[in-house]
Amino acid sequence: MCHCLGYVIIMRCAQTAAAAAPATQPRLKKFQVYRWDPDTPGDKPRMQTFEVDLNSCGPMVLDALIKIKNEIDPTLTFRRSCREGICGSCAMNINGGNTLACLNRIDTNTSKAAKIYPLPHMYVVKDLVPDMSNFYAQYKSIEPYLKKKDESKQGKEQYLQSVEDRQKLDGLYECILCACCSTSCPSYWWNGDKYLGPAVLMQAYRWMIDSRDDFTEERLSKLQDPFSLYRCHTIMNCTQTCPKGLNPGKAIAEIKKMMTTYKEKRSSAV
Ligand code: SF4
Ligand code: F3S
Ligand code: FES
Repeated sequence: MCHCLGYVIIMRCAQTAAAAAPATQPRLKKFQVYRWDPDTPGDKPRMQTFEVDLNSCGPMVLDALIKIKNEIDPTLTFRRSCREGICGSCAMNINGGNTLACLNRIDTNTSKAAKIYPLPHMYVVKDLVPDMSNFYAQYKSIEPYLKKKDESKQGKEQYLQSVEDRQKLDGLYECILCACCSTSCPSYWWNGDKYLGPAVLMQAYRWMIDSRDDFTEERLSKLQDPFSLYRCHTIMNCTQTCPKGLNPGKAIAEIKKMMTTYKEKRSSAV
């Protein structure tokens, strides 16, 4: 039995329907974006509104920003690289929450404008680009690498770790240092020069509990002052906002517990 005739009829019907279908209505969405250009004398921070047709835009906020930059205003400045939640560079404040623009879906309700700001309480380099110098200096200060007292095995790949000890690092090593958590923390807003903030403290903890590292006590002793660690007041914005689903608030609580044990050990040794 031949099905060709039926196939031709179905194709014709589909073509007729397509020809009769009304042109797709544009779905125009407003994006209100923070703008500031330090190179334009007298320029003051302001919000600029861009309209994007969601029919010809990818689903994420980063797609909209790239479309605006490519098609409307090439001076719009923001950081991005991987486009898949790995590099951490597209962190910004979208509709009131810190997140990664490449992982944040555009709200398709076109009656509501999307509001996009740089990460809060940071110095701004330009538009959506925050100055990360202090954040990186704080990260450097915790010495985020393996430290051994005996380095004779260096280069020989002999610093072994059990499966169980390796698993203790799960939920910590995945941090991409986007700074969404630190810049959502009120304590970091007020004392960002002296309080290390959740992202850096979670990395400090990651090295403290690494079974291969020999400097746990030294790492703890560096955090004893009133600011570096103890400015965390368990507000937990950090954990709530982390776009990777990590829990820096818990890591800080664990450091505080370790610090108590460390201090008791030291006072009993005196
Ligand atoms: Fe970003 Fe989460 Fe790491 Fe904080 S803990 S820096 S929010 S990935
Ligand atoms: Fe801030 Fe998180 Fe502590 S929001 S106060 S670092 S629990
Ligand atoms: Fe890399 Fe968004 S572009 S995390």
